[in-house]
Amino acid sequence: VLSRVLTFALHGLDCHRVVVEVDLRPGLPAFTIVGLADRAVREARERVRSALLNCGFDFPGRRVTVNLAPAHLRKAGPGFDLAIACAVLAASGQVPPDVLQRFALHAELSLFGDLRPCRGTLAVAEAAASGGLHGLIVAAEVAHEAALVPGLAVVGAPTLTTVAKVLRGDEPPPPLPPPPPRPAIADKVDLADVLGHADALDAVVIAAAGGHNLLMSGPPGTGKTMLARRLPTVLPPLTTAEAVEVTRIHSVAGTHDGSGLVAERPFRAPHHTISASGLVGGGSPLRPGEASLAHNGVLFLDELSEFARPALEALRQPLEDGRVAIVRGQRTAVFPTRTMLVAATNPCPCGYAGSDRCRCGEPDHARHRRRLSGPLLDRLDLLVHVHPPSGFELARPGRRTSAGVREAVAIARERQTVRLSGTGCTCNAQMDAGALRRLVRLEPAGERHLRLAYEKGRLSARGHQRILRVARTIADLDGSERVTGAHVLRALAVRVDLTPGEVEVAA
Ligand SMILES: Nc1ncnc2c1ncn2[C@@H]1O[C@H](COP(=O)(O)OP(=O)(O)OP(=O)(O)O)[C@@H](O)[C@H]1O
Ligand SMILES: [Mg+2]
Repeated sequence: VLSRVLTFALHGLDCHRVVVEVDLRPGLPAFTIVGLADRAVREARERVRSALLNCGFDFPGRRVTVNLAPAHLRKAGPGFDLAIACAVLAASGQVPPDVLQRFALHAELSLFGDLRPCRGTLAVAEAAASGGLHGLIVAAEVAHEAALVPGLAVVGAPTLTTVAKVLRGDEPPPPLPPPPPRPAIADKVDLADVLGHADALDAVVIAAAGGHNLLMSGPPGTGKTMLARRLPTVLPPLTTAEAVEVTRIHSVAGTHDGSGLVAERPFRAPHHTISASGLVGGGSPLRPGEASLAHNGVLFLDELSEFARPALEALRQPLEDGRVAIVRGQRTAVFPTRTMLVAATNPCPCGYAGSDRCRCGEPDHARHRRRLSGPLLDRLDLLVHVHPPSGFELARPGRRTSAGVREAVAIARERQTVRLSGTGCTCNAQMDAGALRRLVRLEPAGERHLRLAYEKGRLSARGHQRILRVARTIADLDGSERVTGAHVLRALAVRVDLTPGEVEVAA
C-alpha cells in the first residue's frame, strides 16, 4: 500500500516541495525513514509512533518505509512529523487519501499527538498557495500567520485527532483562534527625554526621514544609546508589503510568535561579541542574521569599535546591496538586508578625546581610528559628534517630541513615496545611481558647493552620491521640491570628520 503527502522543506527563505511517500509491506514490523533526512527528521519515527498510538490510531504492524522525495534535497528539522503521520494514516486506511492530497502539512508532533508550531509558516503557506494547493494544515498557534496568504484554506489544528476528523469530514475545520493581544506600542520612551544635542537630534531626524545610516560619536554617558533607542518612536509605520517581508524573515528565524503580521519596524541591537554569521546569516540549519532580522527596520551597533573586524567587514556588501547571498553546499540562500544602520562609539579608547580628561596617547588614537575607519565608515551617510550637554541645556526641557518628529518624518516620507514610485525604492537612502540622476537635480549653488567639496578631496565618488541623497532628504523635510545650496551645505555638515580632537566638515 502506498500513500503520498505534500510538505515543504525550508532553505533560507525559500521553500522546496517535498513529497512524503509511505509504503506498507508485509514482513517483520519496522519503521524506516530515507531521503537525506537529518537527525531531527529521523527522530520523527519515535514521535509519530507514540502520537498515533496515544491518539487511539493503529500503528501498522508491518514494514513501514517512509521516503522523503526528492532524495537529493537535504531535509532538516521536525516540521515533517505531521506529514509522515498523516501519510501513515492514509496508507493504513485511517484517513481518506484523496482529501489529504489537497493539503500541505507542516507541524511537529508531541508524543501525545499535539501539533507544535514550526519555523517558517508564512513562507510555507506562500509556497503552498503558489503550488496550487487547496489548503495547509498547521498548529493552531501559527494559523493566523498562515492565513495571511489569500486564497489558502488554513486548518489550525490543536491535535492529530482533530486533523484526522477534519480530513474524514467528521468535523468542520476549527475556527481561527482569536488573535493574541498586541502589546501596546512602547510609549514609555520619547525623544523629549533627550536634553540638549541640537545637532545630534537633527541628524536623527534626517536619518529617520530618509532611511539613512548614522554614526554617533561622543564621550560616555552623553546620550548616544538613549538617542538610538528612541529612533523607533519616530519611524513611519510599516507598509503591508514591508510587514509581510519582515514577518517571513522573523518566522523563518523563529523570532515571531505566529500572531499574524509583525506590526512594528524591527529594531535589532546585537551585542558587540556577535560573530560574522550571527550578523549576516549562516549556521545550520541556515538562519537569517541580525542584518536580515533588521530588514525594513534599524540595525543598531552600540560600541561600534568593540565589534570584531571580520563581523563588520562581513556587513559591508549586504549594506550596499540590500541583500546577502549565503552559499551552502550547492545551494544559495538569499536574505534581504535593507536596513538602516545606526551605530554609536566613543571617540577614543578612554572616551574623552578632545577634552583635557583624555588620557590616550597617539598610538591609542591611531588604533581606534584603524578600527573605525575604512570602507564601513564610507557607507555611513551621517556622522555626528554627540557633545556632553551643557548645564544650561540639562535644566531645560527636551527640544523635540517623538510625536512632532514622527509627523515631520511621515510628511517627508510621503513626498519620497510619490517621487520614488515605480523605482522599487521606498526612501531616499535606497536610490541608486540611475535614480539619483533622474530624480535629484541640484540648483546651481548646490552644484557649486558639491564640486568644491569634491575638488578639495573631501568626497569619494560614493560620498558624492551620498550627499545627493541626504540633501534630497533635507529638502523633503523642508517641504521643498528643489534642492538648494543651503540643503547641500547642511548635507555636507552632518558628516563630520571623526578624527579625535578635531571637528571638521569632511564628507
Ligand atoms: N542628553 C541627555 N539628556 C538626558 N539624559 C541623558 C542625556 N545624556 C545622558 N543622559 C542620561 O544618562 C544615561 C546614559 O546615557 P547613554 O546610555 O545614552 O550614554 P552613552 O552616550 O550611550 O554612553 P556610553 O558611551 O558610555 O555608552 C541615560 O540613560 C540618561 O538617563
Ligand atoms: Mg551607550
